[in-house]
Amino acid sequence: MNKVKGLKKHLNVLQETAYAEFGSALEMLSACKLSKKDSFCFGYFHHSKDEYNHTKTFLSLLKKYGQTLPSDIAREFRFSSNAVINKGYVSSKGFLVETMKLKNFIAYVYTNELLAKESFEGILKMLKSDISDAEKISLIMKDELRHHGLAEKHFLKYYPRLQPWQLMAYRIKETIQNKGRKLYFKNLQFLDKVLSPLYSFMANIAGLILTYLNLNEFNRNGKNLMDISTKSII
Ligand SMILES: [Fe+2]
Ligand SMILES: [Fe+2]
Repeated sequence: MNKVKGLKKHLNVLQETAYAEFGSALEMLSACKLSKKDSFCFGYFHHSKDEYNHTKTFLSLLKKYGQTLPSDIAREFRFSSNAVINKGYVSSKGFLVETMKLKNFIAYVYTNELLAKESFEGILKMLKSDISDAEKISLIMKDELRHHGLAEKHFLKYYPRLQPWQLMAYRIKETIQNKGRKLYFKNLQFLDKVLSPLYSFMANIAGLILTYLNLNEFNRNGKNLMDISTKSII
């Protein structure tokens, strides 16, 4: 039983990371579409492609480890592209490049790529018993560091007056928001647990009421519909 519990924890990490990577891929693709310069578009496109590849890697790991669990448990870890919004990885208000100032958007990329690389250190530890899996994670970490470096270069070139403390402030803000996002989803899960029995209770009551209602008024067989009162609900 403990083995299943441990595996579920691992699957949860792999699933959440797949969503985060997928969210990043979509963000970068939208940034590519809205780029004003060809060189920016090219950079965002390749960044997006990397993030899609990372998603693919995590989905393949999810599949590999999910197959070792009974199907009713593995089902909980199915990937659904819509959940990327429910889980807060992409905002329902729009993509970041649409809702943020460009400078803040680059700062977001700069800090998040580093945070991503740091979170992969934990995943690397988790998967270290399988050398080929650990190798895949190491390659992703290299990509994230490269993305972080590219965003930094962009900053130095286009915003040379930005101070290091400002980047640090961005990083602290993002760390807090990441934690907030996790809390938001946990709250949703909690509400789902509390409200689901209430909804099914209400549905049962509604069903019970319907069985006692006299529905003869709704029987229009053999009646001239033009004679029906205008106040009728049909
Ligand atoms: Fe990534
Ligand atoms: Fe990245």
